[in-house]
Amino acid sequence: MSGLSNKKILLGVTGGIACYKSAVLLRALQTAGAEVRVVMTPAARAFVTPLTFQALSGHAVYTELLDPAQEAAMDHISLARWADLVLIAPATADFIARAATGQADDLLSTLCLATEVQIALAPAMNRQMWLNPVTQENLQRLMIRGYLCWGPDDGAQACGETGPGRMLEPEVLCQMAESHFSPGILEGVRVLMTAGATREAIDPVRFVGNRSSGKMGYALAQSMRDLGAEVTLVSGPTSLAIPSNITTIHVETALEMYSSVMEHVEDCDIFIAVAAVADYRPIQIATDKIKKNKEKQTLELVRNPDILAEVAATESPPFTVGFAAETEKVEQHADEKRRRKQLDIIAANKVGTDEGGFESDRNALLLLWQDGREELPMMTKSVLAHRLAERIAAQYRARI
Ligand code: C5P
Repeated sequence: MSGLSNKKILLGVTGGIACYKSAVLLRALQTAGAEVRVVMTPAARAFVTPLTFQALSGHAVYTELLDPAQEAAMDHISLARWADLVLIAPATADFIARAATGQADDLLSTLCLATEVQIALAPAMNRQMWLNPVTQENLQRLMIRGYLCWGPDDGAQACGETGPGRMLEPEVLCQMAESHFSPGILEGVRVLMTAGATREAIDPVRFVGNRSSGKMGYALAQSMRDLGAEVTLVSGPTSLAIPSNITTIHVETALEMYSSVMEHVEDCDIFIAVAAVADYRPIQIATDKIKKNKEKQTLELVRNPDILAEVAATESPPFTVGFAAETEKVEQHADEKRRRKQLDIIAANKVGTDEGGFESDRNALLLLWQDGREELPMMTKSVLAHRLAERIAAQYRARI
């Protein structure tokens, strides 16, 4: 039986360029067993014609609030009651604002007021619009009232910019809809994670850092949450938006990350170290900005604690997952690391190639555990995070 068998999903499509992907989403939902009806806002119809969704869904598309023909087929109140889930993908900044103020000036916003089932938003917009405090406040208002927010993803945008605001890929949204209806495999499981880079101060204005963007860690934290886990994320500085329903603790240095992890580790079942932690920190932090009055400058460094290895070496360690970025002999080096640090799973990737890795939106991983391996080919980090989360959940369940 497919994950969405017998489920009725009302797919709301609002006017953003991402709505061309909603047709693929419709197909994915149907393939997973769902019965889907589509409601489009007037702005969405400027991007894609209702005929596309009608042909794919096999049903007339609902577009008007008070259209006698459509109301005769199923009036808007019945339509609101028909659904088991309302999924709005893409959800534009304008739609989120209208929903947040309870407007009912078109069919979709009216349905949102009239329905008693859960409404999930898949935001899609330019990164500045997403990061704008007004949009964030509107979304918070909706989430307090029980709306779900799926995404957005971080990456290349149709407007040519890069950042948060991309709609999640249709297959991820479909998986999220499936997870929504099935009790999460990680329900009640407490997950502690690290993500991002650390910064090791040299003087009040300079630091030693690295190129980790935090994208993989943030995407994985969200995927673990979507499987039902209670996630605490200890994050180094990143430009990423704080994910919803995840306890996020912000740190800057490796020592701060270490203290925060050690403070919470006793209360976790799974520990996942995604952060690119600085291996060394300057022995001394200059109190004043270092002047450039010497031809040569030496920076003396001291080792930072290996957070992951220390967690794995505790008396009763959680299920531990680590990452290994390797430039050559990926499998051999990663497996050595897995054994040396006594990890349950290691996720290895080749760095220094053209595609994937640090700062990129895409990556590939080789997963290794004691008696198994899985290769996850190059894909977007959000899809990859979902596959990795599922593997971690399966191995964790197999161990306990
Ligand atoms: O030994 P290496 O740095 O390659 O190991 C990488 C893994 O160890 C990653 O999972 C990383 O998050 C973790 N790590 C850590 N603390 C450090 C260094 C690495 O938790 N100081």
